[in-house]
Amino acid sequence: MGFKEGFLWGGATAANQVEGGIFEDGRGLANVDLMPHGSDRYAIGTGEKWIDRIDDHYFPSHQAVDFYHHYKEDIALMGEMGFKTFRLSIAWTRIFPLGDELEPNEKGLLFYENIFKECKKYGIEPLVTINHFDCPMHLIHKFGGWRNREMIDCFVKLAKVLFERYNGLVKYWLTFNEINMILHFPFVAAGLRFKEGENRTQAMITCAHHELVASALVTKLAHEINPENMIGCMLAAGSYYPETCNPEDYWKSICDDRESYMFIDVQSRGYYPNYALKWIKKRNAEIPFAENDVNILKENTVDFISFSYYSSRVSSANPDKGKQTESNIFASVVNPYLDTSDWGWQIDPLGLRITMNEIYDRYQKPLFIVENGLGAKDKIEEDGSIQDDYRIEYLKKHIQAMKDAVDEDGVDLMGYTTWGCIDLISNGTGEMEKRYGFIYVDRDNDGHGTFKRIKKKSFDWYKKVIATNGEDL
Ligand code: BG6
Repeated sequence: MGFKEGFLWGGATAANQVEGGIFEDGRGLANVDLMPHGSDRYAIGTGEKWIDRIDDHYFPSHQAVDFYHHYKEDIALMGEMGFKTFRLSIAWTRIFPLGDELEPNEKGLLFYENIFKECKKYGIEPLVTINHFDCPMHLIHKFGGWRNREMIDCFVKLAKVLFERYNGLVKYWLTFNEINMILHFPFVAAGLRFKEGENRTQAMITCAHHELVASALVTKLAHEINPENMIGCMLAAGSYYPETCNPEDYWKSICDDRESYMFIDVQSRGYYPNYALKWIKKRNAEIPFAENDVNILKENTVDFISFSYYSSRVSSANPDKGKQTESNIFASVVNPYLDTSDWGWQIDPLGLRITMNEIYDRYQKPLFIVENGLGAKDKIEEDGSIQDDYRIEYLKKHIQAMKDAVDEDGVDLMGYTTWGCIDLISNGTGEMEKRYGFIYVDRDNDGHGTFKRIKKKSFDWYKKVIATNGEDL
């Protein structure tokens, strides 16, 4: 019983949230570089407002936690914790600075090659997200981001370069991070900016369809280049509960879940489900099918389902309740049975077991939890230590719930990577002080600090969890 042999324990990051070094070695400008800290961030992320060039806002991702220069030290610390895997993403504009060049940027390719080689030194298997919320600005100006079908070719070209160059170094790949985020944070998820008066559902569904076709083509390519490659989709998960046993609330919770599942249904089953076709039609939108798309989707489904889980969500049939907010990109009514983090994210370990069961029942493919964790403020004590017992508590309960799903319910789980194994920039708020890591980074919300790394109490705790394959929590 317990987690299977070779279970992939580790941690997760995304390029724009850790790397920094955005002007180094020929890297081009991306959407994520124009996401400032402060009150404009949310409106920019949702595609309502925008900035087209670097101005006097503070952009935290420009330096982030300087992983660009600290990766050796950071991977050594991950090795010390006993990581079996490290999830990271590729910054598209390091490889193709504009996105539509014919030849890739060698310096960008070398950077990731060095990272993967460093991982191998410690027996760490890289888990690579090809696209974690980044889109070259040049392609946004030229094509309007993923609205345009031309994006598919640019993305497939990127993936081909990666699969060929890192063949033998990387086996586990995710195509798009949290693909369902298109409906919530469309500029971040698809480089989408809304035009005045346009049918927004149409714009978002167009982007989603292009990403889904790109994902399928890339899955095909990965399998052709090396049949050992394992490709996953990635869902921002967290089941919706009905606020009451009123059937109207229950029905709403099913509809809310479906708005996320519809994308994964396509990636895992190979076709749009009927409810999605109706959902799109009802909103006067249509899927921009091109010849052969149906076959491309059908023939190239993913090998495993990965997802992030931070919390469950609650639905109400009352449209005035549970709106999308800056601190909670997914709309939810507050659940009175749960504790809440300092950022208003509710804490529900059993919800993880529920979510895992729902996803596994639905797809019957191996699952991979690639994000889970607690964003919290950490304090350095006088003796220099960081006593993050609250983080240990959160993770302990979630790992226990995950274990129950495996042991009691028979869910097939490949691995678990906690979010932000090293402190990083928050995607939602741009803050540095919403910390998730086992490793503290000396950097604050305004960009002050030395980038010094400090192990938190949770560092040794997680090391023990990994060493005992999750037996000693
Ligand atoms: C997920 C994203 O939505 O949640 C990450 O994949 C993000 O990029 C994480 O950082 C946590 O959210 P936040 O807003 O606390 O950074």
